[in-house]
Amino acid sequence: MSYWTKKLFIKNAELFLKLMNERWLRTEEVVNGMVKVLSGFGITSGNVLDLCCGNGRISTHMAEKGFRAVGVDISKTFLDDAKRKAAEHNVSKMVTFIEGDVRNLKKVVGKIRQPFDVVVNAWTSIGYFSLKDDLKIFKQARELSKENAVLLIAETMHTEFLAVKFAPTSYGEVNNIVLLESRKYDPTTSQLKTVWTFYKKCGENLEFIDRVEYEVHVYSPSELSSLLRKAGWEPVAFYGSFSTLQPMSPLTGLNLVARAT
Ligand SMILES: C[S@@+](CC[C@H](N)C(=O)[O-])C[C@H]1O[C@@H](n2cnc3c(N)ncnc32)[C@H](O)[C@@H]1O
Repeated sequence: MSYWTKKLFIKNAELFLKLMNERWLRTEEVVNGMVKVLSGFGITSGNVLDLCCGNGRISTHMAEKGFRAVGVDISKTFLDDAKRKAAEHNVSKMVTFIEGDVRNLKKVVGKIRQPFDVVVNAWTSIGYFSLKDDLKIFKQARELSKENAVLLIAETMHTEFLAVKFAPTSYGEVNNIVLLESRKYDPTTSQLKTVWTFYKKCGENLEFIDRVEYEVHVYSPSELSSLLRKAGWEPVAFYGSFSTLQPMSPLTGLNLVARAT
């Protein structure tokens, strides 16, 4: 793997971890919503596959709800943190974290014999590679899942949001790290290019840490639906957030529920 994913999630893993930890703080309510949605499908326990699991915030919270979770991610730093946090939450026995590339999902989770009841993909963890790759990932996830499995895609960027809320630059601060973002969006290809520049706050001054460029394909709800159908998943609901279960709108993220076909 070449590519920005390696630089952002492996070389700069410690920096990105700070952003991930911010998300941990609001994950319990997201997972409460997911569990509510799943119970509507008669799924109240079973096996969860967490694609691109990061430091395991969804897996660990699902485990606390009684699910067994398998998280796959390319970043050892995130997975080590995931294992630490699962232990802190007393759910180590309910979670398995595997280092690997989701494009080779079947090979990566090959040793896990149990088919999955639920597949989760959270926080814009799609569109990193080609559309063919995304199709391959969701096809493999389907092949590893039960007949009545449910797919949840959570907290994901979409084109309608960009159409109304696109900001060419933004500024963020987490602990003593300052993050400047500058973005370019090409609506003809739906490719979003972002440059993240990280600085450390030293009193009044900012000390440059690193610059990471990344490029993602931003899906429209209908484009993502078509791709998922080809992969064996039928979208059945879109929410603005799993925490509130309010309907999706151009002002919200994309939170999709699909059932296996
Ligand atoms: C934006 S983070 C989301 C992490 C996690 N899903 C969450 O919601 O906190 C994207 C994640 O995708 C992982 N990732 C990127 N490319 C990957 C690949 N090819 N295979 C597995 N994981 C990958 C990164 O390491 C990172 O943890």
